[in-house]
Amino acid sequence: MTYDPSKDGAEMDFRQRMSYGDYLQIDRILTAQLPLSSAHDEMLFIIQHQTSELWMKLALYEIQAARKMIAADQTQEALKMLSRVARIFEQLNSAWDVLRTMTPSEYTRFRDDLGQSSGFQSWQYRLIEYAAGNRNLAMLKPHEHRPDILEMLEAELARPSLYDEVLRRLARIGLPVPEEVLKRDLRQAWQFDEGVMAVWVTVYRDPSRYWEAYEVGEKLVDFEDYFRRWRFNHVTTVERVIGFKRGTGGTAGTSYLKRMLEVELFPELWRVRTEL
Ligand code: HEM
Repeated sequence: MTYDPSKDGAEMDFRQRMSYGDYLQIDRILTAQLPLSSAHDEMLFIIQHQTSELWMKLALYEIQAARKMIAADQTQEALKMLSRVARIFEQLNSAWDVLRTMTPSEYTRFRDDLGQSSGFQSWQYRLIEYAAGNRNLAMLKPHEHRPDILEMLEAELARPSLYDEVLRRLARIGLPVPEEVLKRDLRQAWQFDEGVMAVWVTVYRDPSRYWEAYEVGEKLVDFEDYFRRWRFNHVTTVERVIGFKRGTGGTAGTSYLKRMLEVELFPELWRVRTEL
């Protein structure tokens, strides 16, 4: 006899109730995959990008909340959120394994249909970079045709980055963060600073005395570690799929992405290791 879960109380009538699909807007999500070719692998390509964008949405949400918590001196809450961000990137890193099942020949079948569109124009990715502190104003340009997106990116540039907020907090707990760092032009990308380096050296040489700062520092390193892995997995997948062809977005492709591997979000935190 087949089992009927309604006999055990499972709700089966949603004429007057909110269902799973209603709550999660599943119809909207599942009707947003619109392949432009008849190539079998285009569905994988679309879903891989869309799911990545969803995870990026959550990462941004958590980074922005963590930054607010740090500004409000609620560091413990922020640490929890930053752990989640690192795990999100770990999740995104595993996702490359699915995309890697697509061969160059399979990708070629629909690549021309993508036109000039590319992850290079992912505004959520730029928001994550801007929120973390990697503020390259040249990356605003592809969004000029969308005033709503440009406004979000500009608003992000006007706020202190996550790293700026951490350094402000370190100053509030009595660490000698240089005044010019605290008053820096927020729109600019973070540049390595000797004074900040000296602060992290102090913290890392005596973790038990500066435990909060030490914990935040390690959380930032964790986040950047997973972010770097994402970039590395991306460039490796790209090389595997398109070799050294130019990107659909117009850059030199793999060599552009390799250059991006050199980006450091929190340079002092990586260099402090050498000083211990
Ligand atoms: C076969 C799959 C993929 C290929 C061949 C590919 C290729 C590329 C290339 C060549 C670039 C450099 C910009 C350009 O000229 O187009 C790029 C940038 C980018 N891609 Fe991909 N990509 C793939 C998958 C993905 C996926 C799944 C994501 C997830 C959202 C993604 C996100 C990005 C982002 C955010 C950038 C900008 C990186 C930066 O500016 O530092 N890509 N991609």
